[in-house]
Amino acid sequence: MRPTAFVFFAVCADSRMESRSSATTAGSFCRSRFNKRSDLVRPGVPSLRHTDSAQSLPVLRAWHSTPILTRVVTKPQSPITHEPVLAPQLVQALVTDRGGTYLDATFGRGGHTRAILAELNDSGRLVSLDRDKDATQDAHELEQRDIRFSFSCSKFSELRDVLNELDMPNVDGICFDVGVSTPQLKDAERGFAFDIDGPLDMRMDAETGLPASEWINKAPIEDLSEVLRTYGDVRNARSIARQIVARRPLGTTFELVRAIRAATPGSATSARILAQVFQAVRIYVNDELNELQNGLVQGFDALNVGGRLAVISFHSIEHRLVRDVIQSWVRPPVPKGLPVRNKDEDPRARHVVKNVRPAYIERQNNPASRSAMMQVVERLR
Ligand SMILES: C[S@@+](CC[C@H](N)C(=O)[O-])C[C@H]1O[C@@H](n2cnc3c(N)ncnc32)[C@H](O)[C@@H]1O
Repeated sequence: MRPTAFVFFAVCADSRMESRSSATTAGSFCRSRFNKRSDLVRPGVPSLRHTDSAQSLPVLRAWHSTPILTRVVTKPQSPITHEPVLAPQLVQALVTDRGGTYLDATFGRGGHTRAILAELNDSGRLVSLDRDKDATQDAHELEQRDIRFSFSCSKFSELRDVLNELDMPNVDGICFDVGVSTPQLKDAERGFAFDIDGPLDMRMDAETGLPASEWINKAPIEDLSEVLRTYGDVRNARSIARQIVARRPLGTTFELVRAIRAATPGSATSARILAQVFQAVRIYVNDELNELQNGLVQGFDALNVGGRLAVISFHSIEHRLVRDVIQSWVRPPVPKGLPVRNKDEDPRARHVVKNVRPAYIERQNNPASRSAMMQVVERLR
């Protein structure tokens, strides 16, 4: 975890100052308080420390009318957690054998992993993956505490290799909770969020591949607009791409935000457009759709007959991909001109549950869950 600068806001105890009858008394009262707390700052207002008593009243008034005190302190990052989405529903649909073997392809901060472990008995086993090295600390701590659990810092496309290495060619259940975790989103240095300024990076595994800025600063305008349209359903993709090119080089998330805003003048640029553009760039930089397709296919092939695969997706492009892949197992396409299906065209899977959405109470408590949708299928042959 990176140490992070935290900004604290405190409100001056104005009522206590007002209760003092004379300016001098009030001045000395406040000055002594602020002298002791010299790390308190009000932007644009002189410090009381450097004010003699003759000047103290106007300065005090200035302090008085500026309600926010800002103190910047460096301290270890408080743990930003990730609230697992649809966890009880996922565990209920996924775990068919409490002594079975399972794989969680998206460890994140281990919310679903812990929920699955809580359901398994002593013979159960769970392997989790995540491509993000920031996930490893929590995962290694859990490995120390629970011998049924192991973690691999790997991608979906390496799922088969991970299982082979662990000598676990087949499993009873696999889950994917795709996208980014809250700690990834809230970390300014990762550059995932349009409302937090930071380097325009967006890589899920920050040590491999190209940061978003490198791609954005080199890509031809046609590629930029194609990515925005295809991966973000962005309507005015061409004009946003034009603004990006005109403002290059872009190095930060806020520079990208300014380019997007410049392409949508007159109207307030909605959070939706910003989110769509950031989503598109993130999907491209991390090759997310190929990764997901690859992971689903490798995961399904690794399932025992009767084993289950659960996927939680968060936006229409993911929903579509997941539904199409599942459809190819549940209802394989019949070759044209064949009057009957032969055995190869029999369904390979059946739906256990379809299009499960979080209930109202979960959406209220965890707004990040609002767009989530879960599909669970069972392997038939
Ligand atoms: C929504 S979070 C998962 C949160 C987790 N279920 C929890 O409860 O804490 C998605 C996670 O999947 C990881 N991820 C996304 N794409 C991946 C891929 N292709 N391979 C491995 N991990 C991936 C991300 O790094 C992120 O940590």
